[in-house]
Amino acid sequence: MTDTPIIAKTPNEIRAIVEDAQKAGSRVAFVPTMGALHEGHLSLIDFAKTNADLVVVSIFVNPTQFGEGEDFEDYPRTWESDINALAKRGVAAIYAPTASTMYPEGFSTSMSIEGPALELETTFRPHFFGGVAIVVSKLLLSVLPDIAVFGEKDYQQLLVIKQMVRDLHIPVEILGCPTLREADGLAMSSRNAYLSDKERPIAAELHATLQACAADIRAGEKADKALTKAIKTLTQHGFDVDYVELRNAETLKKVADVTSEARRLLAAARLGKPRLIDNIPV
Ligand code: PAF
Repeated sequence: MTDTPIIAKTPNEIRAIVEDAQKAGSRVAFVPTMGALHEGHLSLIDFAKTNADLVVVSIFVNPTQFGEGEDFEDYPRTWESDINALAKRGVAAIYAPTASTMYPEGFSTSMSIEGPALELETTFRPHFFGGVAIVVSKLLLSVLPDIAVFGEKDYQQLLVIKQMVRDLHIPVEILGCPTLREADGLAMSSRNAYLSDKERPIAAELHATLQACAADIRAGEKADKALTKAIKTLTQHGFDVDYVELRNAETLKKVADVTSEARRLLAAARLGKPRLIDNIPV
């Protein structure tokens, strides 16, 4: 038997639900999503549950984080199966605002973030973090949970959100949840659905190549050489590579070859229709 989650459509509705729970002594976790839920999202919900009494999930395909020519129209929308999956997972409430609730006629605010938002994704998707920042700040301020959970799969996004929440004094603790992978290492993503049967096994080479590159760097190979080799390997497999970069794991600034800083290897590459991203610690 599963209880159907309460569905809230407006900021006032979701705030009232969360406020009542908090007044009754519950710690509330929030997991923002764009729907098309897969096991990766469900692992965020499980992680949220271990850190709170009750979980709220939002479903909103946010137009402002898609650029011209990107997949906003095609982005998978799977409302019925999402609701069923969330009910089975014991989610208490779903916040599903409409586009006109989030961006009514005359909406005039934009956000610009530097620090961890600079370079990497921003070089290839300059609109992206502005759109993410505006929607996530609106969602956090409407839900006002105790904690919010974001996947490490979108590592730069996680750091940008942490920075924004610090900068704006939004009273919510942000937690990162490790990436869930398919058996062959491919990071779970809604956009994996765009891969053809032929491309699907090749997609796993992104993670395998990052692992090999991290091993080379740990073994003392100069980062530039190891990164160039990784780009060459991916290109040979048929990827169109945007970047493979080694960065400081907390600031995403460039790092020297010899350093005691925690490092992260991040990559983005197109394979057929989807643009895949992944990252691992070094
Ligand atoms: O990671 C995502 O799914 C989206 O960027 C988010 C955080 C839900 C904002 O639309």
